[in-house]
Amino acid sequence: MYKKRTIIISNRLPVRIERKDGKLNIIPSEGGLATGLGSIYKEDGNIWIGWPGFVPKNDKEKVQVIEQLKPLNLVPVFLTEEELEGYYEGFSNEVLWPIFHYHPSYAVYEPSYWEMYEKVNQKFADIFAEQNINDADEIWIHDYQLMLLPKLIRALNYRLSIGYFQHIPFPPDELFRSIPWRDELLKGLLGADLIAFHTYNDTQHFLNACTHILGIPIQNNCLRSGGRSVYVEVFPMGIDFEKFNNLSKSPEIKKRAKEIRTFYNNRKFILSIDRLDYSKGILERLRAFECFLKTYPEVRNEVVLYMLVVPSRDSVPKYKQLHDEINRMVGQINAVYGNNEWTPISYFYNSYDVKELSALYVAADICLVTSLRDGMNLVCKEFIASKEDQNGVLILSEMAGASKELIGPLLINPNSIEEICECLKKAIHMSPAEQRKRLDDSLEIVKKFNIRHWVRIFFKRLREIKSIQQREH
Ligand code: UDP
Ligand code: G6P
Repeated sequence: MYKKRTIIISNRLPVRIERKDGKLNIIPSEGGLATGLGSIYKEDGNIWIGWPGFVPKNDKEKVQVIEQLKPLNLVPVFLTEEELEGYYEGFSNEVLWPIFHYHPSYAVYEPSYWEMYEKVNQKFADIFAEQNINDADEIWIHDYQLMLLPKLIRALNYRLSIGYFQHIPFPPDELFRSIPWRDELLKGLLGADLIAFHTYNDTQHFLNACTHILGIPIQNNCLRSGGRSVYVEVFPMGIDFEKFNNLSKSPEIKKRAKEIRTFYNNRKFILSIDRLDYSKGILERLRAFECFLKTYPEVRNEVVLYMLVVPSRDSVPKYKQLHDEINRMVGQINAVYGNNEWTPISYFYNSYDVKELSALYVAADICLVTSLRDGMNLVCKEFIASKEDQNGVLILSEMAGASKELIGPLLINPNSIEEICECLKKAIHMSPAEQRKRLDDSLEIVKKFNIRHWVRIFFKRLREIKSIQQREH
């Protein structure tokens, strides 16, 4: 009997290829999608199709990459510089990203971006078509870079089960409406059988867009498209709980966490980790930290903000500007408030391996997440998973999907500098008993609704939907 496979498709593979000293090395990708699914896809004959984060110089390099990725069940989609410029930097990150993160003034409606987005989505469909697909295989498409792919794959094979998960928010329909190619985007997604988001609000926004823009009637969370019932549902993504929990308890990580704390003279250690992105509220965080030092002079010398910013999309102009502004603000705050013995902000523009991240989570007294909009935010869940043995406080933006799921964090509105500042004060003075109680409330959720659970229930639902559709015929 044919053993059905899962085919995952996303813009970025969970690993990327890096050219170093003339050699091609495989290294893990950053970002929630890659880290979340990276640990679970390898089973059986499953494959993952995506871009390896690398532009080969020639066919020889292409073949080399294909061969290197084959044992990992990864199938590369090679993109040219021109394709990356139009499809990835352009349409994905200068149209969809700003609109979906409620930053319409950052959107650049350039028709050539759209043309390239269509072309590259088709390229993914062509690579998919080369994979000897069977009717029984299940297809899982991820994220906003591939919104046209469900329809393209449906056109190749009507019987396939196709799921789509969007890792970023879906904006209110009036905001989504501003995109000149909105109809095509919605129709692209409707090629899937199950369309899923992190939060209830996202599903409602998507359903409203289908009704108000395409005029499709909705019954509960279900709509009819192409003669099929399509379901729109909430699946908040979890993390690899065991990985972060086990690491946090290992002697190696505990030792490293102690070294970090000692290096900072056991000062109160406030941690923030995010990709360089205006959606993460990094400037708002810096302003709030400055306000904290200004309003409460007694905390000077006593706290440190350890801020890790992972380089991301630095060829997109808004990201470049943000990078410059962060550099400027960190320099200014350190110059105004620092002294010979103390630098208020330790800022790193770099990417760390999971062990170092784990040691930081263990070392931190406070994890500060100030996203202006965030699909889920996995960093805060990784912090919680690392805190079964230690105390700590999570300050979490109410604009991050995780805030709808976790019980226990101190919630803040990231647009209120004052509120963040007051919350920092509260966190620093929180009793160990209250810290424990809040952490335990969150831990229970992060542990139970982990990444395996997420994958399991997604596919369970996809199969249920297939049988509902079969009964309809
Ligand atoms: N991360 C990483 N290397 C780093 C810093 C972060 O791999 O140096 C990972 C982090 O562990 C987390 C992911 O990047 O799993 C960020 O996911 P999140 O959902 O917080 O934000 P996103 O980047 O997806 O917007
Ligand atoms: C977010 C998006 C992912 C993306 C990641 C990193 O998590 O939801 O689709 O892969 O950021 O961004 P990048 O542009 O480097 O792939």
